Amino acid sequence: MLTTIAELRLWTRQQHAAGKRIGFVPTMGALHEGHLSLVRTADEQCDTTLVSIFVNPTQFGPNEDFNKYPRLLQQDVELLKTVGSPEVFAPGVEEMYPNGFAANVHIGNVSEPFEGRFRPTHFDGVATVVLKLFLMSGADVAFFGQKDFQQVCVVRKMVADLNIPIEITVCPIVRESDGLAMSSRNRYLTPSQREQSLVLSKSLAQAEKLLVGERIRDAELVRLAIQQTLRSAPEAVIDYVAIADPKTLQELTVIDPSQTPEVVVLLAVKIGTTRLIDNCVCRLRPCDTLQRQ
Ligand code: PAJ
Repeated sequence: MLTTIAELRLWTRQQHAAGKRIGFVPTMGALHEGHLSLVRTADEQCDTTLVSIFVNPTQFGPNEDFNKYPRLLQQDVELLKTVGSPEVFAPGVEEMYPNGFAANVHIGNVSEPFEGRFRPTHFDGVATVVLKLFLMSGADVAFFGQKDFQQVCVVRKMVADLNIPIEITVCPIVRESDGLAMSSRNRYLTPSQREQSLVLSKSLAQAEKLLVGERIRDAELVRLAIQQTLRSAPEAVIDYVAIADPKTLQELTVIDPSQTPEVVVLLAVKIGTTRLIDNCVCRLRPCDTLQRQ
């Protein structure tokens, strides 16, 4: 396990000297099958895999769960042995943010709506740490989960705008057998809240049915249906339900498959004090198919 930036740079130099393509999976630990799926994909596509485990303080707001976020480094390392023991970089906070640290990476535009409205400093923290990790790891490809859809948009925009020489690969959302998207935060849910949390995946399935099956083109109707389903959970408090263009994250009111052949449905819901996010990308069938029937 590597804990200092100097050790990481040495490791990277050795991998590149051996002609290896480095795949990188940034995480905050408390690993689950969603993280492991990224590691497996990295292993398939690259010669060597690096996983970072760092609970990044700058991406948590003042009233968020930084202190109680699970830290399970030994368990994480054991779990990584089941997926080929990738190299692990687990720095301390002082290594990443020495005293007097003053940089901040702000990616405008895609970081502003949705999560950005409810967690105003979150994506600055994500962009700052991800850029640092990209630069210090020298990785060739980085792997992110679709689970954090807007995070992927922010990272892609940062890579494009700052000409960072890294490829970004996005992997599908891994879910529990009953549909709940895996998350390190699911462990905060009480048994009753765990049951209620199913409204997220249920409402996304419903959205897909309305958008793809029934070809509803009024986004507001779909949003209202989702909200109604989410509210059937007694402890659910909705932060947002949005239907947007997956490329620009522009929110849509009228859905026109000739303009946006795919749409993304994004949700953030608190169940008690636990904030859950989920999303699905729907590939729309063009309206003309409807007219011909
Ligand atoms: P973390 O929440 O630990 O997630 C690390 C990576 O795992 C992210 O790319 C996330 O989208 C992916 N992931 C989480 N749950 C998943 C699931 N159910 N299916 C598929 N992928 C899943 O995201 C972060 O950490 C941080 O913001 C980070 C990028 C590490 C910067 O600190």
